[in-house]
Amino acid sequence: MTLPRTITPAQAAPLARRTSGSALTSSLREEALQLLLISAPQAKAAAISALNTWEFQVDTRSCLTEPQGVPGRPERPLLVQPSALKNRAVGTPEGHASLIHALAHIEANAINLALDIVWRFADMPEAFYRDWWQVAVEEALHFQLLEAHLQSLDHAYGDFPAHDGLWDMAQRTRSDVLARLALVPRTLEARGLDVTPAIRNKLVSIGDKRGAAILDIILKDEIGHVATGNRWYSALCAQRSLDPVVTYTQLALTHGAPQLKGPFNLPARRAAGFSDDELAALCGTPQTA
Ligand SMILES: [Fe+2]
Ligand SMILES: [Fe+2]
Repeated sequence: MTLPRTITPAQAAPLARRTSGSALTSSLREEALQLLLISAPQAKAAAISALNTWEFQVDTRSCLTEPQGVPGRPERPLLVQPSALKNRAVGTPEGHASLIHALAHIEANAINLALDIVWRFADMPEAFYRDWWQVAVEEALHFQLLEAHLQSLDHAYGDFPAHDGLWDMAQRTRSDVLARLALVPRTLEARGLDVTPAIRNKLVSIGDKRGAAILDIILKDEIGHVATGNRWYSALCAQRSLDPVVTYTQLALTHGAPQLKGPFNLPARRAAGFSDDELAALCGTPQTA
């Protein structure tokens, strides 16, 4: 196997284990943690795509220790406050590339978020870890598609500054899987469902058919990711005898989640499994029951 040139020996450890024939005894959650430590998202995505994890065991009960430097981060892009990011007109070459870069950055973070939920939270059913591993595989593909498109625009990942809002929410919800599910897939990824059609239209308006086609793939997959979040959130609420709508409001307040504003992509949110009560609460309208 040819390793990506940017990978370091430490980063290559999970790959080396696989090529040495030990995959049958590898642990999916430990593998996710090792992959999370890879700093270059290109190498991280390639390593995720190359694994056949159905041969991996899932150690549902292990409490793994968080090493320093989670997640692995590349030296670039420079991370800044959201307010410090320039608004560039998408009709200019720089503006177009910076929009594709921002989307690639979201996907690089989404890879980290999916790997993180696999390794961090113990005592969930095996299907939970396999579901989120599948999300990591799709996030890796999204990053690869966008990064290749960025290169076709004569830019590379890291060329523009970016913000750290997605990982920040992962940090705030690191101690509670219910909060993680409520505020990452069901809030931040669900926000992606709302805004993706308008971004797609922007790309179409400047003739970027390839970018629009990539966003079609992403929107379809992201409905699935939010659905996965909804399914496990509902299961945990039922297990803890919690009302899903009331609990969401409490978790959003406790962890400082952003206040969501419309317009909302209600068909996509319905397809992702949000209930009528949840959508009514989101839109600030009276609940149905
Ligand atoms: Fe994605
Ligand atoms: Fe996603």
